[in-house]
Amino acid sequence: MAGEPKSITVPWVAGAQERGGHLVMVTAYDYPQGRTADAAGVDIILVGDSLAMVVLGHPDTLSVTMDEMIHHTRAVRRGVKRALLVADMPYGSFHQGTDQAVGNAIRFVKESGAQAVKIEGARPELVAAMTAAEVPVMAHLGLTPQSVHRLGGFKVQGRDDAARRFILESAEQVEAAGAFSLVLECVPQDLAAEVTRRVSIPTIGIGAGAQCTGQVLVYHDLLGLEERIAPRFVRRYAELGRLSREGIARFADDVREGRFPSPEEGYGGAAPRPADEPAKLYG
Ligand code: KIV
Repeated sequence: MAGEPKSITVPWVAGAQERGGHLVMVTAYDYPQGRTADAAGVDIILVGDSLAMVVLGHPDTLSVTMDEMIHHTRAVRRGVKRALLVADMPYGSFHQGTDQAVGNAIRFVKESGAQAVKIEGARPELVAAMTAAEVPVMAHLGLTPQSVHRLGGFKVQGRDDAARRFILESAEQVEAAGAFSLVLECVPQDLAAEVTRRVSIPTIGIGAGAQCTGQVLVYHDLLGLEERIAPRFVRRYAELGRLSREGIARFADDVREGRFPSPEEGYGGAAPRPADEPAKLYG
């Protein structure tokens, strides 16, 4: 797109509302996913704590650790050249005070190469402290999955007047504290539209309607790798789960029926492998 920088920066993302463009964010959790999302031209790649659910198989996001998040963010980093790389602060990494929160935010920058962090909840004081420590912050309001027990489940937020007011005020507070963008998850579409009108930083919606400045989906949802749950806001653009099963089943059939490997898929007929030929590619 005309006027886009070679690599996406925090100020470029922060200016998206003013420019009037749509932002595209997708999650990724390893090197090939980061490389694929980057090559597809998304603006922001988030190493979400959804890692816990879609990659590590946990029932919620609460158990994933800083070390696990850093490990996966480093892998994604190796695949990302152009998109802005944001790491999600996991549950417990910022709940014990400002020093702990700032320390862990700095760890992401130093140890994983993330350019910014995302933090769930209405925490303007932490947004301000991290921003002052030179770690740009993406805020996250509405359904914050780390609050699953307090909220009593993964439920749409901001339905009544008090909850709407809380989200509107929190959005203004995190903006004032220095957040460069704001994820809005599972809130009514008209509320997301009102938040987007009230703040000048971009809103990035997931289950929050089309009036947000941008949209985010989880990699495994949008490509059909996560097939157990299908929230209404997920649109599947590929069926990689089904295609992967079919591909592996065909491989298994070919091995069992003696069709794999063919002579062309081996080296040098029945002769022993030449000494200078690599015996294997990996490991
Ligand atoms: O962890 C995650 O994947 C997220 C996105 C859904 C915004 O927080």
